[in-house]
Amino acid sequence: MNARSRLAAALDAARDWHANLPEARAFCDWPDDLVWADLPPHPLPSAAHVLSNPGASGAGSDALLQALQAVVGDVEWRHTYTAEEVGQTFLDHFCWCELAGPEGHFLTDKARITVGYWGPGLFYPRHQHQPEELYTIVSGRALFHADGEADIWLAPGETRLHLSNQPHAMTTEADPVLTLVFWRGDGLADPPAITPGAG
Ligand SMILES: [Fe+2]
Repeated sequence: MNARSRLAAALDAARDWHANLPEARAFCDWPDDLVWADLPPHPLPSAAHVLSNPGASGAGSDALLQALQAVVGDVEWRHTYTAEEVGQTFLDHFCWCELAGPEGHFLTDKARITVGYWGPGLFYPRHQHQPEELYTIVSGRALFHADGEADIWLAPGETRLHLSNQPHAMTTEADPVLTLVFWRGDGLADPPAITPGAG
């Protein structure tokens, strides 16, 4: 199997995950205009943790976890944030990529589908962005914070919706967390911004 085949398999697993998750189906339609982008891989050392310590998957998320682990070496991994913003320890245990979207491995302007990983013991500072996003947990667990809402621990198969420009943050403790995130609305290609006065 080559990179394109492995990434297509990961996209298929993400499509099945979306089809089987009512919150995801309600959030957005699966994009029907996906085009292979042939992005070169961009390795990050932190992506090795997706293989070595993904956290426990649930019965329904095992296939997606395995498909995502199979493309760790093929993906254009990103950090977006700087060490000044989030700290070097955070960057050493965090990575994300765009599976599908305006800048993804598969191109579409109708949605954005990203994969995000955070190792144990991290605090993802309060940040915000214009598009709405639906976090879905593939493996591990994390504590989600959002302005105006109670904190909530999420495990595989559970979801969290963040509204447009609603500041939110996330904490991992003993476990890492691997997420598949769906985005909708304007500004899909814009990076998130750390909320001023974040903490
Ligand atoms: Fe976010």
